[in-house]
Amino acid sequence: MKTLAIETSCDETALALIEAKGKGEKTRFKILAEAIASQINVHRPFGGVVPHLAKREHEKNLPIMLEEIKSQVKDFSPDQIAVTVGPGLEPALWAGVNFAQELAKKMDLPLIGVNHLEGHVFSNWLEDSEQIKFPAVVLVISGGHTILLLMESINKWKKLGETRDDAIGEAFDKVARMLDLPYPGGPEIEKMAHEGDPKAIKFPRPMIHDKNYDFSFSGLKTSVLYHLRDHKKEVAHVSASFQEAAFDVLTKKTLKAVEEFGAKSILLCGGVAANKTLQNRFAEIAKKEGLNFSVPQLKYNTDNGVMIAVAAHLGKHFPLEADSSLNL
Ligand code: KG4
Ligand code: ZN
Repeated sequence: MKTLAIETSCDETALALIEAKGKGEKTRFKILAEAIASQINVHRPFGGVVPHLAKREHEKNLPIMLEEIKSQVKDFSPDQIAVTVGPGLEPALWAGVNFAQELAKKMDLPLIGVNHLEGHVFSNWLEDSEQIKFPAVVLVISGGHTILLLMESINKWKKLGETRDDAIGEAFDKVARMLDLPYPGGPEIEKMAHEGDPKAIKFPRPMIHDKNYDFSFSGLKTSVLYHLRDHKKEVAHVSASFQEAAFDVLTKKTLKAVEEFGAKSILLCGGVAANKTLQNRFAEIAKKEGLNFSVPQLKYNTDNGVMIAVAAHLGKHFPLEADSSLNL
C-alpha cells in the first residue's frame, strides 16, 4: 500500500511517498520519496510564523513539491492520499486540505485526514519499532504542544497531562528572541547552551513537584525576561541555564509517570525532541532504569511528510476539514 502524504500545518510544505507492508504495530515502512520546502527565511524577519504568508507559500510550493516527489520515483502510483487536518494554523491547513482534495479527485484516490500530533507520536514507528514495549510513556514536545501520554497499545492511550500555558518549543522560541537569536530559536539555544554553564543562573522549575502531569513554561520564560532586564546579556549562560531548567521539568515528570504506571518504554517526539542534550538525558535515564528509549531520527522530529503517511496507516482517520485545535 503506497501513501502520498501532505503536511502544511505550520511553516514546512512537506510531501512524502511511502510504502507500508503489514498491519498495526508490525507494519514496515519504506520511504520512496520525500520533499520539503522550508519557509524559515520568509518568517524569520517577523520572528515567528505569519499565518497568511504561510498559506501563500504552501500554495506556491505544493505543486513544486509534488513534481519533486514524482521525479524521485520511476513509477508514481499511490493507492491513497493523506493530509494533515490539524492542529496547526488554520489558513495553512486549508492550503494542504484543498490541494489534497483536488489531487485525490483528479487521481481518483481515497483521501484520509490525519492528526499532526499523531504524526509526531507515530514517527517512532518508522524504524526499530519492534523494541518499543508497552506500556509506554510518550512525551510530545513541539512548537505548539507539550503533552505527556500513557500508551497501552498502539491505538489506546490516555493523556496524563499537558502545558497550561506556553508549549515548550514556544518558550524556546520566545527566549531566543529575548537573546536576539534567530527564529526558530530551539536549535539556536541548543547551540549556544554548549558554550554556557547550565548552573550559572538559577531559573525556576515550574510545577516540578506537583502531583499532576501538567506543565507550565510561561513563568520560566518571564524569569528569563526579568533576569535579562537586571543583568548583562550572557547569551550562552542564559541559554544553558534556561534549557537545563526546562529539561529538568520534562525529565522529572516523565520519570514520575514511568514509575507510577510501570512503563517499559519512553518515547520522545516533536520538534524539541531533536535536541541532542535532551535526548542524551533521556537515554541515560532509560539506561539506568532498564527502559527502552525511542526517538525518531533528527529530520523526522521536526515537521515532515513521512510522519503523516505513517499516521495514516497507524492512527485514526479524521474529517477532511481544517481543525486548528485538534488534540490527542
Ligand atoms: O514539531 P515542530 O517542527 O512544529 C510544531 O508542530 O510545532 O516543532 C517546532 C519547534 C520550534 O519551537 C523549534 O524551536 C523547536 O521545535 N526545536 C527545538 C530544536 N529543534 C527544533 N527546540 C529545542 N532544541 C532543538 N534542537
Ligand atoms: Zn509538529
